Amino acid sequence: MSVTVRVPAKVNVGLAVGPARPDGFHDLANVFLAVGLHDEVTAAPAPGLELTCSGPGARQVPLDGTNLAARAARLLAGRHGLAPDVHLHIAKDIPVAGGMAGGSADAAGALVACDALWGTGTSEAELLDLCAELGSDVPFSLLGGAALGRGRGELLTPLPVGGTFHWVFAVADGGLSTPAVYREFDRLAQDRTVPPPEASAGLLAALRDGDAAALAAALANDLQPAALSLRPALADTLAAGRAAGALAALVSGSGPTCAFLTADASAATEVAGALTASGTCRTARVTTAPAPGATLLP
Ligand code: C5P
Repeated sequence: MSVTVRVPAKVNVGLAVGPARPDGFHDLANVFLAVGLHDEVTAAPAPGLELTCSGPGARQVPLDGTNLAARAARLLAGRHGLAPDVHLHIAKDIPVAGGMAGGSADAAGALVACDALWGTGTSEAELLDLCAELGSDVPFSLLGGAALGRGRGELLTPLPVGGTFHWVFAVADGGLSTPAVYREFDRLAQDRTVPPPEASAGLLAALRDGDAAALAAALANDLQPAALSLRPALADTLAAGRAAGALAALVSGSGPTCAFLTADASAATEVAGALTASGTCRTARVTTAPAPGATLLP
């Protein structure tokens, strides 16, 4: 018997970053939107904790105890006094180290899959607490849809979304380290006072109304200058998508994936074709949002 859980990637449609906190994290007003690129995490009985991974980028995924999905299995098992006896297989489709919370998605998927396999009957509130212990973005991977994340991003308020948004994601060669991007944010901010992070009212209204033009005007990512500073070539990717008719372009989270919001599905196909032809990214993916959170497959 095995169980499989599907987990979505995310894009940050509004990522307001405050000053560094004493614990090294940054207070955020982080507006998450789950998008239709997915990993699948399968849990099957095994004599000990085993981890395998397949799909594009699988070779960059660590298969040792540091893997967030393995840590999730150990955390849940420990909570219930069980041994973490499970074979986890991650079928990867979310870009690795791409700023789309792929590792966080795998952790949320592993929690839900192990909970079902072991019959531990964990409540959603308890699962969200475990997710927050694993990483700032993990609770949102469990929840999906759209949400405002406060604190370091783990304190979630679900947000209404009034329609379907069409996105293109330009996947870069290689990843960017999230801590390195935050360190670059701090370096770039050292001569100014960073204000407390706030979510923009216009952004929340655009999501609620399903208004792509209004969402395009409100997209904002405070980590973008840091990601561009570490990877200047991303400016060419953003420009190529804008020139091809995207309503707006921004770096996804800490990057290096670039996100393009388009008016409809045909514009998304056109932008993806132009991005691929431009040679400024490894591949371009077309999808829609919002997507549901971690879901057990039948
Ligand atoms: O929580 P998570 O393990 O995903 O965070 C990875 C790194 O990203 C942290 O160690 C920290 O350097 C940075 N981070 C941050 N502020 C946040 C979230 C993450 O500085 N709110």
